[in-house]
Amino acid sequence: MDSYKLLITGGIPLMGETYVSGGKNTSVAVIPAILLSDEPCTIENLPDIEDVHVLVDILRDLGAKVDFDGRERRITVDPRGVNTHTVPYRQSKRMRASYYFLGALLGRCGQADVGYPGGCTIGNRPVDQHLKAFRALGAEVEERGAIISAKGKMMGAGVFFDKITVGGTINAMLAAAKAEGNTILYNAAKEPHIVDLANFLNSMGAKVKGAGTDTIRITGRPHLHGSVYTVIPDQIETGTLMIAAAATRGDVTIHGCIPTHMEALTAKLLEMGVQVTDTDDAIRVRTVRGHRAVNIKTQEYPGFPTDLQQPMSALLTKAGGDSIVIETIFESRFKHLNEMRRMGARVQILDQTAIIEGVSELYGAPVTATDLRAGAALVVAGLMAKGTTEIYEPGFIERGYEHIEEKLRSLGADIRREPVEAKTDN
Ligand code: UD1
Repeated sequence: MDSYKLLITGGIPLMGETYVSGGKNTSVAVIPAILLSDEPCTIENLPDIEDVHVLVDILRDLGAKVDFDGRERRITVDPRGVNTHTVPYRQSKRMRASYYFLGALLGRCGQADVGYPGGCTIGNRPVDQHLKAFRALGAEVEERGAIISAKGKMMGAGVFFDKITVGGTINAMLAAAKAEGNTILYNAAKEPHIVDLANFLNSMGAKVKGAGTDTIRITGRPHLHGSVYTVIPDQIETGTLMIAAAATRGDVTIHGCIPTHMEALTAKLLEMGVQVTDTDDAIRVRTVRGHRAVNIKTQEYPGFPTDLQQPMSALLTKAGGDSIVIETIFESRFKHLNEMRRMGARVQILDQTAIIEGVSELYGAPVTATDLRAGAALVVAGLMAKGTTEIYEPGFIERGYEHIEEKLRSLGADIRREPVEAKTDN
């Protein structure tokens, strides 16, 4: 249980300017990818978040020399001292993306023993497509207890994903970057961080083409060299801030973002009646009239991202009319709406569809974050509710949002921490 809770007194329009941090989902792929290099690499614009801290611990355990400066948002990793191909379950269970060490270690030394990944409980999250790709590239893969064990010299091959998977595509890219020969990934995911990983690999001398389309071609290179690389801004943090601005009927400009990555959300906010304008690297979100209800169906990029479904459906609880939200990517991603019922939200959930009947007011209540984006959704809910919302288990939010409290406070939000009393038996 987290030792503190977040208290948010809602109803204050967010106003002013803020900035977006480096991408979580890209950082957690790019950092393990450094293992493919023969020389030190430096990554800049990293978010100072819990998931990055876990990766630093794992790299150090593997024998890499890591110099991480959270304030400077920079990491330098010298992978030359890596002396093991094992990431124990004790470490892997701390985050989802620990499974990228499978692809990275296979690519580096042809062998990887990595514990099953942890991460958010948003439904069943199989890794069959990752393992299928490793096998296609020449690995023998065994699942032993809590460990996935893969071994074999990586040889270029065709891999057809039965299902579009971000993690599977990334893991296959990592395993194939140094394989002998050519690899083609069919039905690949197209998310911005897949393009970012390809750009990082290419900056080390890899030959990856087609990232951002559904066919990625990789010509394996035996040696990759050091690189200094800056990761892209966080698409989901940008979206969460946009939604928070709309939810409080504020006027917020978010700097340092990539507006083209936000098109699915921007289109929905415009449909709701929110004003969204952008320049090359900034987005301004304003609300002048009431919000209309809209329907949402999550999809792979460039469709509406599942990671923004949760904050967006929180916003829809106060829109005028009924909204239908269909979650197609993960099974269990409406837990925040159940919590929000306590705040006055009117919601019916039928399997992976939520029907949201907009209400005119939400009221502060105690709620519990159940995963990272559910936590973000409850922050949005707290910001738009009357009175004070107490969010328990806010540690989930820290896994993926850098300095979210400070950022919201700088826009005028009333958000603070309070210790949670430890339970006693008497
Ligand atoms: C990544 C993101 C996560 C986002 C998700 C979907 C990172 C670190 N995380 O997660 O924030 O919510 O993409 O955009 O980038 N699947 C299989 N077999 C597999 C792999 C996946 O059936 O081997 C299924 C999953 O259960 C899910 C769907 O495919 O239903 C998509 O999952 P995937 O794209 O792999 O998501 P993640 O990489 O886990």
